[in-house]
Amino acid sequence: MELQAMGEAYGKSSKHFRRRVVICAGTGCMANGAMKVFEALRKEAGDHGISLDIELDFEETRDRDGLLTKSGCQGFCQMGPLLSIEPDGILYCKVRPTDVAEIVSQTLLDGKAVERLLYPHPTTGKPCRGRHEIPFYALQQRTVLKSCGSLDPEDIREYLSQGGYRSAAKAYLEMQPDAVCGEILASGLRGRGGGGFPTGRKWEMARVQPGPKKYIVCNGDEGDPGAFMDRSVMEGNPHAVIEGMMIAARAIGADEGYVYVRAEYPLAVARVRRAAADAEKLGLLGDDLFGTGMGFRVHVMEGAGAFVCGEETALLASIEGQRGMPMPKPPFPAQCGLFGKPTIINNVETLASVPLILAQGAAAFKETGTPASPGTKTFALTGHVANTGLIEVPFGTSLRHIVYEVGGGVTGKDGRISEAGFKAVQIGGPSGGCLTREHLDLPMDFDNLTSIGAMVGSGGLVVMNQETCMVQVAKFFMQFTQNESCGKCVPCREGTRQMLALLDDITEGRATEETLPLLEMLARNVKVGALCGLGKTAPNPVLSTLKHFRDEYEAHVHRKVCPSRVCKALMTPAIEASLCKGCTLCARKCPVGAIIGERKTAHQIDPGKCIRCGACVDACKFNAITGA
Ligand SMILES: Cc1cc2nc3c(=O)[nH]c(=O)nc-3n(C[C@H](O)[C@H](O)[C@H](O)COP(=O)(O)O)c2cc1C
Ligand code: SF4
Ligand code: SF4
Ligand code: FES
Repeated sequence: MELQAMGEAYGKSSKHFRRRVVICAGTGCMANGAMKVFEALRKEAGDHGISLDIELDFEETRDRDGLLTKSGCQGFCQMGPLLSIEPDGILYCKVRPTDVAEIVSQTLLDGKAVERLLYPHPTTGKPCRGRHEIPFYALQQRTVLKSCGSLDPEDIREYLSQGGYRSAAKAYLEMQPDAVCGEILASGLRGRGGGGFPTGRKWEMARVQPGPKKYIVCNGDEGDPGAFMDRSVMEGNPHAVIEGMMIAARAIGADEGYVYVRAEYPLAVARVRRAAADAEKLGLLGDDLFGTGMGFRVHVMEGAGAFVCGEETALLASIEGQRGMPMPKPPFPAQCGLFGKPTIINNVETLASVPLILAQGAAAFKETGTPASPGTKTFALTGHVANTGLIEVPFGTSLRHIVYEVGGGVTGKDGRISEAGFKAVQIGGPSGGCLTREHLDLPMDFDNLTSIGAMVGSGGLVVMNQETCMVQVAKFFMQFTQNESCGKCVPCREGTRQMLALLDDITEGRATEETLPLLEMLARNVKVGALCGLGKTAPNPVLSTLKHFRDEYEAHVHRKVCPSRVCKALMTPAIEASLCKGCTLCARKCPVGAIIGERKTAHQIDPGKCIRCGACVDACKFNAITGA
């Protein structure tokens, strides 16, 4: 069957279904029992005489009750398992198998929403019927993620029905390689893998290299702690990534490609493998693409799970079967890459954006975002914020919009919205830096972030409230990079270890007058001396917290005090008698029996016995334990 006809047939058959029920089968929702809901729903519907098909039958011409499909991550994992019902426009949150009977009787039979399963509006508490009413979704601009969560990632026909592979056909049938490169260059697309290098320029560099053998590599390693944007795209819309690779292959004249996915992402591996196999079955991948005689094949390779393997030269070494260690550049992979051949390495999100650009044209793509950073960016929003999850907003969006509108506001210790709670946002993971109150209105794009010592990085956004110790934040990332340093070059191997030791000194009360200048000098030297991006960016969290929260470091070093009361070793806990209710909770938690006092009378701490473990501070519900 012709591809277009297949897409159209799918669209036509899907119209025979009165309803479409989509259960999120992303990693988060699956872990929370989405598949149990799927099975329960099928059975319960059947018991009520409603047939929910799980596969769309092309030949079917009769009207059917409903189609029940799975989707990739819909981004709101915190509220999962998610279940949406169309055309009713309903989104149910935190659905359990025990909710299924009500869903079937009220919604599938009577068309009414089950109110208690709807998302309550964070300020008004009013139940939101569907995505259009939920601020987390309504305030985003989902482009790359648009189909993640609505489309069945395991059915190529559905991707075809939405115009899938048409951009690839255009690139192979109507465009020359230089025109494809030119269109991507004109769109201003910049790599979403962190550095923001113009994709068109990179492709052009590879296009002009002598052939015949060239490669396209999709970087799906995503080793940043807290990031899961690429995983969601691979799980939710794998064909978009494959199509992006096909277009890149046409642009540079490659006939082979690799998708490198970390082994910790088994669902992404399975979905990309299936997508590549299904595309090959239809002749979309193989020896003769669109009847042009040009070939392109895709291999899916599982990565070793080391952060450094995301670095492009290390990644290539890993595909070649060597230990994943970086190499000095130049030569750049675009000149001499995989097996010594010109190779383009692009991030998952970059590649998934490519078919959209060819479909809508460079000019339309540039209408979103900022002039120097067009388009949208996905972020993994986590930390002390009401709505955590995967979001997508245009470049140039302010942090304020993300934290307070999409994210619903900063939360305090108790998980409730706290008005004065915002302290900082760590952006870009271990390579990035932190943004403070003064940056809340800064339009976020590649260059603005670099100018203040942060970076888009892979797009991790961790919101932190007033109770966060910024030295501990720097230490967390330094611990990560120190563990992940491949050890090839001394500045990174030894530098990260020494920086971590200095941070330990600061949080544990051993720091002296020399500690901060030494830490700063070391950070600057590692930045310039390290071989690869891991080492070069490892000092960023330290330098940016030092820049914006120096007083906090100084309090630790000079006064031996942690202003956020997080560093336990710097605490001399005491109980504020006026606040103490004598509830005995702290005394029961103290491991060394340092707290004395009768029930309903103010308690006291024996400083001689106290080992400064901080258990009492965490236990006290009345904030009666002071750390000064
Ligand atoms: C330590 C380290 C880890 C990286 N991890 C990733 C990653 O997981 N995914 C990614 O796309 N790029 C990662 N990068 C950036 C890649 O080296 C490369 O620049 C990117 O894949 C290029 O694609 P783009 O131009 O589409 O951004 C990493 C870089 C470094 C230094
Ligand atoms: S900077 Fe670090 S990770 Fe990169 S090559 Fe040197 S030791 Fe390895
Ligand atoms: S800090 Fe630990 S040891 Fe000291 S009083 Fe509190 S619970 Fe006891
Ligand atoms: S896995 Fe379901 S919303 Fe993320």
